[in-house]
Amino acid sequence: MSDAMQETGGNETGTQDFPVPAGVYAEPVLSVKHYTDRLFSFRIARPAAFRFRSGEFVMIGLPNAEKPVFRAYSIASPSWDEELEFYSIKVPDGPLTEHLQKIKPGDTVLLRKKSVGTLVNDALIPGKRLWLFSTGTGIAPFASVIRDPETYDKFEQVILCHTCREVGELTYGHELVEATKSDPLIGEEASVKLMHYATTTRQESSHMGRITDLIQSGKLFTDLDLPPLDPKVDRGMICGSMDFLKDTKRILEEAGLTEGANSNPGEFVVERAFVD
Ligand code: A2P
Repeated sequence: MSDAMQETGGNETGTQDFPVPAGVYAEPVLSVKHYTDRLFSFRIARPAAFRFRSGEFVMIGLPNAEKPVFRAYSIASPSWDEELEFYSIKVPDGPLTEHLQKIKPGDTVLLRKKSVGTLVNDALIPGKRLWLFSTGTGIAPFASVIRDPETYDKFEQVILCHTCREVGELTYGHELVEATKSDPLIGEEASVKLMHYATTTRQESSHMGRITDLIQSGKLFTDLDLPPLDPKVDRGMICGSMDFLKDTKRILEEAGLTEGANSNPGEFVVERAFVD
């Protein structure tokens, strides 16, 4: 630790010389991008032995305490990526994000060795269309899923729906879809199969309203020129706030779709890791 750090009691992320806990990787931050005063993304090196399925989440923390705080984070990069990407909210007094939002390239992030999650292709039975319903940072696991070639092998159409309060909060999704469509591995298929439907609820934009209301009114389907939800062909994944999960699950069930899980694949899946 440098003298300056000793004087101020550590660096900006509060990182000091704490030992890395057992069962945890310590990896360097490679890049950080801030989108709004509430949202940022970052990429870290991928440990050579770390395997995961696109759409899964992992527990991450900072080496700033003897027993660091860990939180569930969806891995936003696909399973083939050499780096791990995360998309995070900044909570002013959040035990982890208050420090995490200050990370810079070269800082260390801790990562538990095991990834899990239900927003994976394996938890869905075959279908034609994959609907990805998200609010806020709930788009993160879908950033992984839409960059996985398996998704385009399994589905004829992939529709990424993202609802946020304000226009600036949609930037991550717009950049993601643009980058996906020009990616050498999946760009050609994504350009044909991937659709993006982004809406705001508290600021004027080209598509407004909660995605739940837009499904129920039918406007989503009219806008995209697609038929209404049909359990024979439509599959869904849901990620966002607790109320959003509940409402969207009910809507999909009313349309006749049945919830699945890793152990029992179904017509849609919900990620509850971040809200329980
Ligand atoms: P709204 O502005 O109408 O509350 P938050 O920032 O609170 O997590 O919300 C992110 C986005 O998710 C907002 O646009 C918010 O709309 C929307 N949202 C919140 N709850 C629901 C819900 N139950 N169903 C659909 N959208 C929701």
